[in-house]
Amino acid sequence: MNKSLYTKLVIIMLVLILSIMAVVGAFLMRGVRNFYLSEFYEQMRTVFSNIELVDDLRSAADGEDAPELMAQILRAYSGELGVNSGKRSYYILSSTGSRLAGSERAGSETLSITPNILTAIGGHEGYASDVGADYMDVALPISGETGSYIVYIIDSKDDVRSLNDRLFEIIVDAIVVGLVISVILSLLLAKTLITPIRNLTKASEKVAAGDFSAKVDNPAGDEIGILTRTFNNMAGQLESNMDTLKKSEMMRRNFVANVSHELRTPITSIRSYAETLADSQGMVDEETQRQFLSVIVNESDRMAKIVQDLLMLSRFDAGSIDFDFQSFSFEKSVKDVYSAQLLEAQRRHHEFSLEFKSSMCDIRGDRTRIEQVLINMVSNAIKYTHDGGRIRMTAGQDGDEVWCTVRDNGVGIPKEDLEHIFERFYRVDKARSRESGGTGLGLSIAYEIVERHNGRFETRSQKGRGTTITLMLPVEGPSNE
Ligand SMILES: Nc1ncnc2c1ncn2[C@@H]1O[C@H](COP(=O)(O)OP(=O)(O)OP(=O)(O)O)[C@@H](O)[C@H]1O
Ligand SMILES: [Mg+2]
Repeated sequence: MNKSLYTKLVIIMLVLILSIMAVVGAFLMRGVRNFYLSEFYEQMRTVFSNIELVDDLRSAADGEDAPELMAQILRAYSGELGVNSGKRSYYILSSTGSRLAGSERAGSETLSITPNILTAIGGHEGYASDVGADYMDVALPISGETGSYIVYIIDSKDDVRSLNDRLFEIIVDAIVVGLVISVILSLLLAKTLITPIRNLTKASEKVAAGDFSAKVDNPAGDEIGILTRTFNNMAGQLESNMDTLKKSEMMRRNFVANVSHELRTPITSIRSYAETLADSQGMVDEETQRQFLSVIVNESDRMAKIVQDLLMLSRFDAGSIDFDFQSFSFEKSVKDVYSAQLLEAQRRHHEFSLEFKSSMCDIRGDRTRIEQVLINMVSNAIKYTHDGGRIRMTAGQDGDEVWCTVRDNGVGIPKEDLEHIFERFYRVDKARSRESGGTGLGLSIAYEIVERHNGRFETRSQKGRGTTITLMLPVEGPSNE
């Protein structure tokens, strides 16, 4: 159990219970005291507004032994006055405040002169109440024809005190029970709060250690539930980001390895042919010399092509390549590419045909680059078809798209390779492609160009049966240019 959160909760609960109880207790005790006080004065006023009683007292005041007589009259009213409880006494005082008669229980104790007695000595009714005093009293001047006295009732407030003491005990008991309940409640509350937090902490430790699969289960709709879901989303996001990063890092390494390998091969052969020529010291005949030099030139050309292709790709990646978007005839480009490749196709004894399925309108795009894409499609078909094969170019327009299909009956592409042929340096049969001068960059460059035109490729192939590749371009060109 997390101690600090738990301790905090317990302390908060305890303070809460204590303060609520203290406030309730204080109000309750004060209320009881005030109630008693007003009850007492209410009662006294009711009793002494009885004309009969006052008249009786007045006439008694004139007789002989007046104080004793008056005390007797009051005794007759002891029920109404509430003086039979033992906490309340009545007295008859002289007009100067000295005690003359009273309840038996009052004994011989001396009476202190209270403000109310002073008021009565002054000839007025003393009904003043003092919340702070430990007694409450009423003093009334009663004057007959000859004698004048003071009727004095005093209550010791013992009832209020004992009631308040009892109340205090009850409140203390309630506080103890409340504290026990609050400790148990904080334990439960802390548990419901801390368990999901602890799960979250564990999961974030895992994430920090690189394990993004950690998911926290908390279907609650409260703040911690929301936090948990946010955390899960974040972990998922991080995981996919890391995956992408790892993938791109792997691609980068592969790419660098591929580039190094592709460049090392021609360099090695250039070097060995050049060395042989240098070491021969004229021992090699002219024909062989020419052969060697032609290999050196071919390999240099190959290197130049690779470097050129790589430069173009890196400019695509950096976005620093400018396209020259203009309106041009796609139909004418297809025808031009066909004518340009016809010679090479004939050299390989291919049957090479071109057919337009429909008339085409002009399209917007970079003509040179689109032709580069078409050339690569056709030259691939020528390269990857055994001599004497059949290559068919068809083109047409379909709605707001123009298309060109190159179909061959060549070596074909295995199913598992088909989705990779647009990747950089990807070649199905490395030895064969190299032999035919392929570097595996042609289609990746074509892909970048076609993507910039908002176009797409469709490829179908069967190993050993042939390949069909279709280029589709929107007539409008890229919408954002
Ligand atoms: N018509 C096709 N028939 C069979 N395989 C093909 C065909 N077109 C492409 N391929 C396969 O796809 C790979 C990638 O083609 P891509 O044009 O990118 O490279 P390349 O032709 O080998 O080299 P480059 O075009 O740079 O000279 C080729 O190496 C080849 O294995
Ligand atoms: Mg190619």
